[in-house]
Amino acid sequence: MRRIVALAGVAALSLSLTACGGDDNTSGTTEEGEGTSAAQPWEGDASEVSVTTWWEAGSEKLGLEALVEVFNEQNPDTEFVNAALAGGGGSQAKQKLAADLAAQNPPDTFQAHAGAELTDYIDAAQIVDISGLYDELKLRDAFPDSLIDRLTVDGAIYSVPSNIHRANVVWANPTVIEEAGLDPAQVPADMDAWIADMEKIQAAGKTPLTLGMAWTQTQLLETVLIADLGPDAYNGLFDGSTAWDSAEVTTALGHFEKLLTFTDSSLYSEDWEPAMQLVVDGKAAYNVMGDWAIASFDSQDKEAGTDYVYFPVPGTDGVFDFLADSFTLPEGAPHPGGTKAWLSTISSKEGQIAFNKVKGSIPARSDLSDDEKAEFSEYQQNAMESFGQDIIVSSIAHGAALPVKMSNAINDAVAKFVEGGSSLEDFQAELVDATSGLGQ
Ligand code: BGC
Repeated sequence: MRRIVALAGVAALSLSLTACGGDDNTSGTTEEGEGTSAAQPWEGDASEVSVTTWWEAGSEKLGLEALVEVFNEQNPDTEFVNAALAGGGGSQAKQKLAADLAAQNPPDTFQAHAGAELTDYIDAAQIVDISGLYDELKLRDAFPDSLIDRLTVDGAIYSVPSNIHRANVVWANPTVIEEAGLDPAQVPADMDAWIADMEKIQAAGKTPLTLGMAWTQTQLLETVLIADLGPDAYNGLFDGSTAWDSAEVTTALGHFEKLLTFTDSSLYSEDWEPAMQLVVDGKAAYNVMGDWAIASFDSQDKEAGTDYVYFPVPGTDGVFDFLADSFTLPEGAPHPGGTKAWLSTISSKEGQIAFNKVKGSIPARSDLSDDEKAEFSEYQQNAMESFGQDIIVSSIAHGAALPVKMSNAINDAVAKFVEGGSSLEDFQAELVDATSGLGQ
């Protein structure tokens, strides 16, 4: 019951953020005019497809390569053109995209997070409604209703998801934890208990927590907000029903401030992989990161349970901090037939299985057989189960909860605070400013 309430809240949120009124038509049926003779926007030149992602290096590149292999098998006549841009979380890709889209120079398709992140592109009419393609490819039956709801904006759908990631995961080095006299199997119950453990790890001479550049800082903050506010009040941060200047947010910011004392500031300019590497190498105990991290451990032949352990951020057990990578059809894409080929592959069972096995995420499709599910790692099988039963909330750092402009403003405020440029009080005021206009 609680989960249903949470989902309804988020569906309502995505609608209110588009600033278009309209009914909450998220039933999974289309109102588009199928059967019309006009050419669909995804028909046309299929000789190539240029794909912008931020899966440019490391384990993420391996995931993209697995997907491209299936793409090439399924579409031998369409050339895949890799337009990947470095920078985890899309830290550089999103800026370049905004400039290219504004200059009417779009790629054939680009990676964007399902949810509110698409709002700015939709409002600027830079991406096309592809709900008719959902019917053509029978995607409404393939994806769970909860996901279709998150993708539907005023009856239209603007992207196809390739995967679902979970953001509220702690990745930990059991040896470092043990050396501090703690039991790695004993997961701290809440933020205070976790902080107490970190004090012991610090006293034992190891870095308790690693933290990288701005978006990784926002991701840590969002998980602290979920832990301290609980999922319902956290969801309320995005529709105006929970005030960003409330006392409960102040408490979470206080915990965040305390967590920073356990980090090494020399990593604040690093991307997520170098920050995670200290945990991999046994130099630090914890890192909070999405489950793309498991691909990094895998690619270094590390064993879950012995080389590393993982658990939900303390205080967020039973909550799935959701984000999904998805792909769009930009207005004026030079090779729309190529885009259709790409969207077909990334949504196909073969594409989703090959990609997600390497990427660490779970397929967005919910129609995998037990045998197909068994091909995934134990972590991923657990994540599939959690996604089906946990309370789902939307990630701020990864575009599910807020439009790009607000997420960027939050990132700026967080980075300033982390670098010591603002007091906690000023930080909270900046978060209020960054999100002003919500719920209106
Ligand atoms: C994307 C993931 C990616 C991560 C780190 C997230 O925004 O959704 O696919 O692995 O950033 O780059």
